[in-house]
Amino acid sequence: MNVEYNNEKKLFHLFNENFSYVIGILRNGYLGHFYLGNRLYGPLSEDWFRRDQVRAGTPYVYEGDMDFSLNLERQEYPSYGTTDFRAPAIDILQKKGSRIVDFKYDLHRIIKGKPPLDGLPSTRVSNTKDALTLEIDLKDMVLDLKLTLCYTIFPELAVVSRSVRLENLGPETFNIDRIMSLSIDLFDDNWEWSQLSGDWARERYLYSVPLRPGIQSIGSLRGASSAQHNPFVMLKRAETKEESGEAIGLSLVYSGNFLLQGEVDLDGVTRLTSGINPEGFSWNLRPKEVFQTPEAIIAYSSQGIGMLSRTFHDLFRQYLIPEKWQKSPRPVLINNWEATYFDFNEEKILSLAKSAKNLGIELFVLDDGWFGSRNNDTEGLGDWFVNTEKLPDGIAGIAEKIESMGMKFGLWIEPEMVNKNTELFKCHPDWLIGDPERTYSHQRNQYVLDFSRNEVVDAIFDQLTKVLDDVPISYIKWDMNRYITEPFSSGLTAEKQGELFHRYILGVYNLYERLINRYPDILFESCASGGGRFDPGLLYYAPQTWTSDNTDAIERLKIQYGTSMVYPISSMGSHVSAVPNHQVLRETPLKTRSDVAYFGTFGYELDVTILSEEEKNEIEKQVEFFKEYRGLIHHGNFYRLLSPFDGTGNETSWMIVSKDGSEAIVGWYQILANANRGLFKLRLVGLDCKKMYQISGHKEPISGSVLMDFGILMNPAFTGIDLDSSYGGDYQSRIWTIKAV
Ligand code: GLA
Repeated sequence: MNVEYNNEKKLFHLFNENFSYVIGILRNGYLGHFYLGNRLYGPLSEDWFRRDQVRAGTPYVYEGDMDFSLNLERQEYPSYGTTDFRAPAIDILQKKGSRIVDFKYDLHRIIKGKPPLDGLPSTRVSNTKDALTLEIDLKDMVLDLKLTLCYTIFPELAVVSRSVRLENLGPETFNIDRIMSLSIDLFDDNWEWSQLSGDWARERYLYSVPLRPGIQSIGSLRGASSAQHNPFVMLKRAETKEESGEAIGLSLVYSGNFLLQGEVDLDGVTRLTSGINPEGFSWNLRPKEVFQTPEAIIAYSSQGIGMLSRTFHDLFRQYLIPEKWQKSPRPVLINNWEATYFDFNEEKILSLAKSAKNLGIELFVLDDGWFGSRNNDTEGLGDWFVNTEKLPDGIAGIAEKIESMGMKFGLWIEPEMVNKNTELFKCHPDWLIGDPERTYSHQRNQYVLDFSRNEVVDAIFDQLTKVLDDVPISYIKWDMNRYITEPFSSGLTAEKQGELFHRYILGVYNLYERLINRYPDILFESCASGGGRFDPGLLYYAPQTWTSDNTDAIERLKIQYGTSMVYPISSMGSHVSAVPNHQVLRETPLKTRSDVAYFGTFGYELDVTILSEEEKNEIEKQVEFFKEYRGLIHHGNFYRLLSPFDGTGNETSWMIVSKDGSEAIVGWYQILANANRGLFKLRLVGLDCKKMYQISGHKEPISGSVLMDFGILMNPAFTGIDLDSSYGGDYQSRIWTIKAV
């Protein structure tokens, strides 16, 4: 891994074993984007990567000179106002009304390691040997503004992380109306654009379309990254498959309003941009102040989208989630939500916990309904003190009773919200986000607390610490069940209203940071009506996210498959729930439910006190199985074999191989049974072709090459000849475990 600067050629080369990223300083001091891809060797020279062009219909920068136009340059961070008509990376409104900016190269530094971003989550290294950061200062001399572009490269991974800092060195106050974290001009437009979009209970479905001239984008204006669009975009060639071909991925480490945009110009250059959504955003930057953007990640793969996903998985697991959870095993949990909803008391909770303990489950999570007057979703949010009618001995009492059973205890909170029927609202009606002269819309009968105000965050922090201090709590599920409407803050002056959405999310990050510092051993799981805020920003604090409120095993195939495009398996909250399923009323076998949930953090969300003996035996075995394989599942390499988004989507398959290739686990799922179907094969990937493996269900060891190049021969056995009910009917699944011998 290195960052080289060639002063004579004015060229930066960031590289590691697998990857190169090349930036040049253009004739006018702007930064040119020259290359992103597989590792390049040898001395690199500007004239190989770019050419002066004389073109009709183009304005030129220098008088009397007809061959330098920014419109024709591939750039790293385009300014606004001179010879480039595409979307700029930055837009600054000045006192005199002008928006023209002109940022030119001034200085650069190469730093060992990676400095943290002020107030924001970002990838991190504990050892400065694990990263190199290039900081390039650009200056607008007229405005006295300094723009620092930061690039970090890590060993082996084909990624660059980028962020931007703007410092006001002069006497004037500016309004930043757009400041993207990343902009990059790719050489061509021969790409398909893939995004993860959906809604509540069907988050992160995969959609792909070819790029076309003009702008295409996804984003959020909801105050959260959202269930509708995830802050991730992938570009792939038409011929790119799971394990072959080129792909580029863009991910934003941010949980608020975002924009990911692709702009194709008529030369076929693709400008990718990623950052805070400029819509509704305006930051008032006073003299001496600094604005820091969130971090954007760009990754490359020449070995398919599978490799692209694995690059993100490794990056997030090694450099993003809290260090403690990079290695510690995640507990098998039981959550009482779908078992009881709001209707519980201590006796019910303890009986659930006791039954769960007997099944080998390690952590009990008490979900919504334990605080204030919370007996339904119209009241209680904001009153973070225990409801002693339900839990007479308080949180400490229930936590200690569960701990004494030999289980860990966890708690649900929704700190960003308030119901009107609460003490908090009575004391502080002005703490809601909204315009006092207008209606305050609600969602699920709740309102959003104004986390852009420090005093609001402080008050919630104080309430929570009173509950959590001195109580044996091992886990917190931090929920967020509505988006922001009427974006107005009574705490901000007129010229700062455009800062609300970003300041809100900074408030959320601040509360996370303070809680984690105070309770370093607590495992956080983030949640937003399921996966409404599943993003890398929150993974920095909470290494796992409740993937979706949809717990149906069949529905989860698409959700988990889509999520795996960028997020690691160890980040996906996945539970076995009751049948008929509460979201879709579908009946699926208990085996299928666990076989899907294994590919996540794994837990249960059903009333375990009413199970039959047979079900209890099965669950006991499932829990044991997961404990044996969770190391492999959470740390191994993930491969997608069959996509629920292809064709009829009837089959899905995926597998995980340990980093050393000595162990693997394969999952295969079929939605509807087929009559009279012939033999078919499931070809595996990622194994060592020469190693011999013992695969479950087969006596003789088989070589990796046979498993990969021939595959597993599958007999559907749903023909009426083989009436083994464990393998018949709809909603079937199989799991194979594989060990090198
Ligand atoms: C959200 C979460 C659920 C559950 C409920 C409780 O919908 O996604 O898992 O915690 O809130 O109100």
